[in-house]
Amino acid sequence: MLATSPVATQAPGAEEGDAHLLLDHLQKSFGDFQAVEDLNVSVRRGELIALLGPSGCGKTTTLRMIAGLSSATSGRILVDGREIQSLPAHDRDMGLVFQSYALFPHMSVERNVAFGLEMRGIARDQLKARVAKALELVQLGHLAQRRPRELSGGQQQRVALARALVIEPSILLLDEPLSNLDAKLRDQMRVEIRDIQQRLGITSVFVTHDQVEALSMCDRIAVMDKGRLAQIGTPQDIYERPATPFVAEFVGRINKLPGQMRDNSTITVAERTFKTTRNVGESGDVTMMIRPHRIEMVKRGTPSDGRNVAHGTIARATYVGDILEYSVELTDGVTLAVETATGGHSRTFSHGDEVELRWSPDDTIVFGAQA
Ligand SMILES: Nc1ncnc2c1ncn2[C@@H]1O[C@H](COP(=O)(O)OP(=O)(O)OP(=O)(O)O)[C@@H](O)[C@H]1O
Ligand SMILES: [Mg+2]
Repeated sequence: MLATSPVATQAPGAEEGDAHLLLDHLQKSFGDFQAVEDLNVSVRRGELIALLGPSGCGKTTTLRMIAGLSSATSGRILVDGREIQSLPAHDRDMGLVFQSYALFPHMSVERNVAFGLEMRGIARDQLKARVAKALELVQLGHLAQRRPRELSGGQQQRVALARALVIEPSILLLDEPLSNLDAKLRDQMRVEIRDIQQRLGITSVFVTHDQVEALSMCDRIAVMDKGRLAQIGTPQDIYERPATPFVAEFVGRINKLPGQMRDNSTITVAERTFKTTRNVGESGDVTMMIRPHRIEMVKRGTPSDGRNVAHGTIARATYVGDILEYSVELTDGVTLAVETATGGHSRTFSHGDEVELRWSPDDTIVFGAQA
């Protein structure tokens, strides 16, 4: 069972103790516009951390400051406890992978990967061995003599990764590296990047606006909202115990209903009463949230076992392969999204069916309505 503590995991602020990379009150403004505001993130050695948030929330700006491609307006960046702001990008010992692969079109795969080492004046024989090793790591050894245009998108992405890894950086920074790839290749590359990152034990910051990517690949996720850190925690923390309505809605689908707290554990929504164990001191107007897949659909009249119950009619059923998405209209016009797995023994319903919905008070999330 997952912990049902109603206490949301709030951003703990940066802790210097075991941090490999530490962002300490980091800020960036462009004129009057604050792109990154008081950002505190501590990344442990060997950890893969996601910077997750919608377009324009400041992810790339943050990554560029870490890489030394742009300077912070205020705050500090520390690596192993040492401030690095005064170091130029090429002295920061960081590997960078961008969304656009930025490969040199006229150079072979091998030369593209070797470039960073040549710039660092690495001796020829050592260089060849290191390039071969990096290409092996991304399984491109056999394509070393090709030009970028002779490669697929996924292969080009792997060249970009090899080029970042070949310098054996202490920190790897990835900015939406998979967004140019089709869904299947993206899945495959997620596994490959995670595998390489773990094998090398390389501390990594992975920028993405894709919640599935963040949840499935990363040790921890820092969710950003308008330049600020909304929450930092493990994928489970973020998904199960969202700290704000923004996090709840951005990471995974969720139902959202306006209601009023009657006492600490009772909410009324349009004349109905529901129980929650997730209220942290809210009273008066609240927003009740429930994940669609935490709602069970059963035949009417089955005993409720202390769970919340609502009756409704299927307004829409959408088959999406492994899941069925239902839109269920409760008798008073309120609609709930429900997801069930297809196949197996799960029963399916269709338009017009009358159903009973059940969900646990532990899955009934409450936020203040003004939040
Ligand atoms: N050089 C700049 N001058 C002015 N504003 C900028 C500059 N660079 C970024 N911004 C603004 O700062 C905000 C954050 O931009 P940033 O590129 O960090 O977003 P992002 O989270 O990476 O978004 P996306 O997912 O679209 O890449 C945006 O509103 C952007 O318009
Ligand atoms: Mg960006």
